[in-house]
Amino acid sequence: MSRKLLVTHALPYANGSLHLGHSLEAVQTDIWVRFQRLRGHDCLFVCAEDCHGTPVMIRAQQQGETPEALIGASAAEHLRDYHDLLIEHDQFHSTHSAENQRCCNQLYAALRAAGLISRRSVRQAYDEQARMFLPDRYVRGICPRCKSPDQYGDSCEVCGSTYAPAELLEPRSTVSGSAPVWRESEHLFFRLGACEAMLREWLASGARAPAVRAKLEEWFTAGLQDWDISRDAPYFGFEVPDAPGKYFYVWFDAPIGYIASFEALRARRGLDFDLYWKSETASELHHFIGKDISYFHNLFWPAVLHGAGLRRPTGVHVHGFLTINGEKMSKSRGTFISARRYLERLPPEPLRYYFAAKLGAGVEDLDMNLDDFLARSNSDLVGKFVNIASRCAGFIERSGGRLGVQLADPALYAEFVAAGERIAALYEQREYGAAIREIMTLADQANRYVDLHKPWALAKDPAQAPRVLAVATQGINLFRALMIYLTPVLPRMSEAAGHFLGVPVSAWNDVATPLLGVPLAAYQPLATRLDPALVAQLIEAPSAPTLPSAAPAAIGGPAGATAAAAKSSEKAQQGGGMIGMDDFSRIDLRVARVISAERVEGSEKLLRLSLELGAEPRQVLSGIRSSYAPEQLVGRLVIVVANLEPRRMRFGVSAGMVLCASGEGDGVFLLGADSGAQPGMKVS
Ligand code: 2FM
Ligand code: ZN
Repeated sequence: MSRKLLVTHALPYANGSLHLGHSLEAVQTDIWVRFQRLRGHDCLFVCAEDCHGTPVMIRAQQQGETPEALIGASAAEHLRDYHDLLIEHDQFHSTHSAENQRCCNQLYAALRAAGLISRRSVRQAYDEQARMFLPDRYVRGICPRCKSPDQYGDSCEVCGSTYAPAELLEPRSTVSGSAPVWRESEHLFFRLGACEAMLREWLASGARAPAVRAKLEEWFTAGLQDWDISRDAPYFGFEVPDAPGKYFYVWFDAPIGYIASFEALRARRGLDFDLYWKSETASELHHFIGKDISYFHNLFWPAVLHGAGLRRPTGVHVHGFLTINGEKMSKSRGTFISARRYLERLPPEPLRYYFAAKLGAGVEDLDMNLDDFLARSNSDLVGKFVNIASRCAGFIERSGGRLGVQLADPALYAEFVAAGERIAALYEQREYGAAIREIMTLADQANRYVDLHKPWALAKDPAQAPRVLAVATQGINLFRALMIYLTPVLPRMSEAAGHFLGVPVSAWNDVATPLLGVPLAAYQPLATRLDPALVAQLIEAPSAPTLPSAAPAAIGGPAGATAAAAKSSEKAQQGGGMIGMDDFSRIDLRVARVISAERVEGSEKLLRLSLELGAEPRQVLSGIRSSYAPEQLVGRLVIVVANLEPRRMRFGVSAGMVLCASGEGDGVFLLGADSGAQPGMKVS
């Protein structure tokens, strides 16, 4: 039965750029949304820029611009990052919008009518020079416990103690530098304590990670405190309708931004508000968040929704933090990687794949080890998964470009289909890592199938042509099954595979029907190896070149040597053509045998060579036509640069380079290996 879902991830705050931690959450959510859609469910995905609050107001002042200009630029930057990470929101709205103001006022009025708003006076730090009340984080001074200097107004980073700002010794405002005074002001409170029984009942109803449950228990035991939802002017936010000079606190209006974004989508699509926001059974509401904002989403937000007569979330899915090479992201260590820094160097899908491979449903922190990232992307995506298609495509092409009419091994295909429900259950539970493990086990099985049946060996005997076609058809269908299962993670690759197969991946259940007897488009590489030098550049080092164009041509290299590779390629750029052994050893030279050779129509220079190079046939376009006739070449051993990134040329893709000697006007001379050498042998 088709479900109706509304899904969100945390709204990015307008005061900074997205980093890989934000990307992790957005990718986690986007995978889930794409998975639900592929399963045939009606899944809406909304988000918004989180615009209000003191940090935005102060930053805008410091930059000499209006908060509106700042949040506009920030939203544009965030949107571009999400787009480039292939995050596909239905609506990306803003908390500084008419919809959000209306929703805030409505929810506030409903809470007040339900007796859930109270007023009382609060004593707070006030900056007389800047003429504003100071949030705790804007007061710094000496820790009252351990006496460490320059600590925040609410907690000490040295001894870890928490305290009231009034306890801080020698306090200073970080806005003006002056000593704050203490002033009373009336504030509005949401009576969270009155919602305890309801919250306990709601929390019991849904599955939660044990660590989240334990934390909630701790909060209940400590007692639920009333929540201050107002701030004094000057404040960048919405004025509270019945309290002039008071503004809704940013954390009150931010989650309401989920509703506002839905409202903007509703206006475009004519959706039913009550279905999504009143009924807890007709639809599902899912929030993906980081563990730092669990209190807001597991306590305040459901209580506000329920108090205002709206539905509570079906699921609040909490993830851990992202660490880089085992360390907290930190600007000083260079491990603070912005989404843009990544995107300027590398494509989004290896990152999406890596995150998926490491994500589970728990709140444990997730480490992005850059060597592991490089190795996994190159070995799983290129070496295992895409390899299935690239090894089989050539045989289909040479058999007339059309898949066979039956599978060579229907039982094996049935195993791949049967795995679909197990994999789907894992995606549903957000156990993506386990799903990826299942998929990669199947990819190993598919590669073993091709290894076992050796179409390249069969192809030498023309009488085996039907068998070659059947084996390659089987291989392509196994690849397609896995592509369907990976579509939520690799949407762009799935689209390219759809072009190749002539049918887009449109539903999870497409897998039930193998693709037979249909023509395939010319195969183009679906993924290429990541350049270790570019991966190494993700870590910001002051001396490292920052422009992606400064990177050497992409050459696949050994995993586990990213920093060294980056360093040595830097040296190569500066060294006037000299290269070290490191650089030389990264070039993978191999012996290959020419299986077939033909003239490239429309080109005076090129021959299209099909090369046997170990297990997989390779197409290389080589500019040797002036010196060699195709028929001279078949069977000959040549030397190939095997790890050159495939190049798309006007006449097709060339996956490698055949080495030749040349002198001016003398033509070209192929380099070869003496007889006895075998295809695939390493040249050193
Ligand atoms: O923690 C943050 O970055 C907030 N901007 C998240 C807001 S999520 C929601 F509640 F709006
Ligand atoms: Zn201290």
